[in-house]
Amino acid sequence: MLNIAVLVSGGGSNLQALINAVEAGGINGRIVTVVSNKPGVYALERAKKHSIPFKVIPDGKDFDSLLVAHLKENKADLVVLAGFLRILGKEVLDAFPKKIINVHPSLIPSFCGDGFYGLKVHRAALDYGVKVTGATVHYVNDITDGGEIISQKAVCVKPDDTPETLQRRVMEEAEWVILPQAVADICNKERKDRKDG
Ligand code: GAR
Repeated sequence: MLNIAVLVSGGGSNLQALINAVEAGGINGRIVTVVSNKPGVYALERAKKHSIPFKVIPDGKDFDSLLVAHLKENKADLVVLAGFLRILGKEVLDAFPKKIINVHPSLIPSFCGDGFYGLKVHRAALDYGVKVTGATVHYVNDITDGGEIISQKAVCVKPDDTPETLQRRVMEEAEWVILPQAVADICNKERKDRKDG
């Protein structure tokens, strides 16, 4: 069973999708810690409600080293960025090579990279006039939203969409589906590799 660490910065609806999938037995892993770089966010309430240990590591120059120490202490095998809106430094990436994944609310390579997060992504998609958008789960490397793509799901844009309605539909139809699925697939692959090895 993989030890999963989930990193958050806000409401935590993607964290909730992961919690639901773990509790339903759909993921062969356990969430060992939820880490937020912002105090008081609703994601932490969600962790509390489900008796999952959580920690706030506030933004600051020692963020990366504190995070690595915390993840190692909790023996994290997989780190999931679920609405985590901070760029991780080299120290974290080097400590968990190909063990960090992120969900991004667009079809990468559209509307991604530095400055594209949360509602800004959906605003940009509407401003451009795309008729299809979606979400992407990808590995995290040193290029923002530039790591290998794991999965994507498309979502139609409606003529009267606002950034808020589009964000909600992309979450419901894409993010909450492909993120738990990607985590489940990684956990299953790991189980198979351990058995075969
Ligand atoms: C989600 O839409 C997630 O994809 C996005 O922030 C939202 C967080 O919602 N992440 C990014 O934009 C990262 N570049 P949540 O806190 O309810 O999961």
